[in-house]
Amino acid sequence: MVSEPSIRDILRHLPPFATDLPDFDTDAAPADPLELFGSWLAEAVRVGVAQPHAMVLSTAGMDATPTARTLLLKDVTAEGLWFASVGDSPKGREIAANPSVALTFYWREQGRQVRVTGEANIGPRAVAELDFLARHPTARANVIAGRQSEPMPEEADVQRAVGAARELVAQHPETVPDDWNAYLVRPETVEFWQASRERDQVRLRYSRTAESWATAVLWP
Ligand SMILES: Cc1cc2nc3c(=O)[nH]c(=O)nc-3n(C[C@H](O)[C@H](O)[C@H](O)COP(=O)(O)O)c2cc1C
Repeated sequence: MVSEPSIRDILRHLPPFATDLPDFDTDAAPADPLELFGSWLAEAVRVGVAQPHAMVLSTAGMDATPTARTLLLKDVTAEGLWFASVGDSPKGREIAANPSVALTFYWREQGRQVRVTGEANIGPRAVAELDFLARHPTARANVIAGRQSEPMPEEADVQRAVGAARELVAQHPETVPDDWNAYLVRPETVEFWQASRERDQVRLRYSRTAESWATAVLWP
C-alpha cells in the first residue's frame, strides 16, 4: 500500500520562490522609505504581481490581543499609506483605542515583503468621501446597509436593508456614511525584504528620527 505524503512532506517540497527575482542594492536605496516603497510598488504593478495593493493590517486594541485582516492600499503620499474602512468595525474600534498598527505586503512573484509600523489616524473627511464615491454603487449600498463583521440578520431583513440602501444610492448618489473613514498610517519603521535564489535574503529597515530616517541592514 502506498501511503499518502503527509501535509508536512507536501509543505517541505514546495518551491521557495519564482525563478527570476529582482536585485536589491541597499547602498543605492533612497533616503526616504516611501520613495523606495513607491518604486517597489510600481515595479510590482509593471511585472504583473497579483493584487500588489492587498496588504495585511494588524491591530491590537486595549487588551493587546492582535488581530489581522487584508485590506486594499488606497494611496501613498508624502505623509504615509492610506486605507479606507468602516469606523464602527472591529478594526475601527481597535484603532480608536490604540492607533499603533502594522501593515504587511507580500509580493510573492518577486520574493518581496514590506513591513510598516506606525500610527493610523482618520484623515480628512474629503478623502473618505472621494474614496467612497469611487466605489461601485452595489458596494456603496452594502456598506450603507451593513454592520461590518456583525452576524447577518434574517435573509428578509438583509434584503429589506440592502433594497433601501440601493434606493438611497440611486436617489442620492452623493451619500457617504458618517463612519466611512480614510485612514492614514504615518510610518515609524519600514522594512524591505528581498529573497534571493541563493537564499541570502536582503533586509533594509528604515526608522524615523527627529529629522529624517536612519537605516540598518538586518540579518535575515
Ligand atoms: C483582498 C481583500 C481586500 C479587502 N479590502 C478591504 C478594504 O479595503 N476595506 C475593508 O473594510 N475591508 C476589506 N476587506 C475585508 C477585510 O479583510 C475584513 O474582512 C473586514 O474589513 C472586517 O474586518 P474587521 O472585522 O477586522 O474590522 C478585504 C479583504 C480582502 C481579502
